[in-house]
Amino acid sequence: MNIDFIILAAGKGTRMGGNSPKVLANLAGKPMIQHLIDTVETFHKAKTSVIVGHKGKEVESSISSRKKINYVIQKNQLGTAHAVKQATTLLRKNSVSVVLYGDAPLVTRKTLNKLVNSATSGRLAILTYRKEDPSGYGRIVRGPKQNIVKIVEHKDAVSKERKIKEVNSGILAVKTTILQKLLPLIKNNNAAKEYYLTDLIEIANKHSIAVRATLCEEHEVGGANSRQELHDLERSYQKRLAESLLAKDVLVADTSRMDIRGSTQIGKGSFIDINNVFEGQNKIGKNVHIGPNCHIINSTIKDNTVVYSNTVIEGCEVGANCKLGPFSRIRGGSELTDGSELGNFVEANRSKIGKGSKAKHLTYLGDARLGQKVNVGAGTITCNYDGKNKHKTIIEDGTFIGSNSSLVAPLTLGEGSYTGAGSVITKNVPKGKLAVGRGKQVNLNKKK
Ligand code: UD1
Ligand code: CA
Repeated sequence: MNIDFIILAAGKGTRMGGNSPKVLANLAGKPMIQHLIDTVETFHKAKTSVIVGHKGKEVESSISSRKKINYVIQKNQLGTAHAVKQATTLLRKNSVSVVLYGDAPLVTRKTLNKLVNSATSGRLAILTYRKEDPSGYGRIVRGPKQNIVKIVEHKDAVSKERKIKEVNSGILAVKTTILQKLLPLIKNNNAAKEYYLTDLIEIANKHSIAVRATLCEEHEVGGANSRQELHDLERSYQKRLAESLLAKDVLVADTSRMDIRGSTQIGKGSFIDINNVFEGQNKIGKNVHIGPNCHIINSTIKDNTVVYSNTVIEGCEVGANCKLGPFSRIRGGSELTDGSELGNFVEANRSKIGKGSKAKHLTYLGDARLGQKVNVGAGTITCNYDGKNKHKTIIEDGTFIGSNSSLVAPLTLGEGSYTGAGSVITKNVPKGKLAVGRGKQVNLNKKK
């Protein structure tokens, strides 16, 4: 059966605070609603409608999708049933409609598949979970045979119902023909004067349509109304991500102390120490060792490389068997070829480091091209900026840069050349030559 997804995202989210629509709140590096878009996109032939209202244009422009999405405007936010109603003309007769709430974004494809299967046979299928503090949520009222009688919203619940800890996730699926028949029967005679989608359950029962609830884990179907709930959802999701790495043979020192904001792949046998943050799209190879407190953004790191503590890598490609850090900063599309090393307090910006080349201490390499087996002494600086333009420094294979050299670009140091420690090099150095550019030492008698 076809699937028509309806994602509700018109609300303001007063309880979240701030001016931005709630569904755009950041969860694991992307807007909450984007998680849902990424999931529904994996269903081929599904149609997706997103109901927008409060700052609808902002919601629309924040979403990225490979497939077409129908944005439907709900002018006044009169409740979740009213929101679904806005999409009814777009739904296909021979489909199952799946309603998702933009603020409950982590439901998996697997669970949705089961939900759709249940709805295909004519049932109204909903997802529920147990919540320690259920206040604010719709309670699942079950009958003597555990059948679902109705959902009662917190505001309308009597004290006995408020004690129920099984709550409504908001996620439901039902044949579109049934939805279209029952939706107009929902009224707004409740405490909030809203058209509650949750009234569908009681109405379905009256029409002898079986209601089937699947009890899920909170970390999958739970939502976020407040900053506290958003925080809790982020923490439980991060833990889930870290645990999935353990299951893929990646050793994580502490599953509560790492964050993946975006999508990061990590190869087998790798080790991730505490407090690492991965942002954007990263690809980490096999047997990579990442020490504590590193920040890795949109980068690739190949097999067997060691990244020591407190290193920041942004937009770079790091080869295999490299060593980086502690306290290195590598950025601007820099490329480190296999077996190269950048050590403590070394910054590389828009630079290429050839195979087996090393700069192990206190160095700035900006717009530099290092060949193979270059050794850069401590304190070396490429002076790449003249106040207006950036210039390149080319350091050919086997060059040895003495400590504390200032390499004033544009500059080429020929293959196998040397610079003396403390030199300011302003002219090209031919192949094999030793360049010394510093004041001569004078030893004077001490005055008495
Ligand atoms: C809703 C459910 C509640 C459930 C909870 C789970 C109803 C009546 N209640 O309550 O049973 O336990 O979610 O998180 O459905 N929205 C619109 N248009 C509207 C109203 C809401 O698009 O007119 C959107 C919101 O942007 C949000 C979603 O629908 O993404 C849910 O609305 P919200 O106000 O957060 O509902 P809850 O009070 O959390
Ligand atoms: Ca909500």
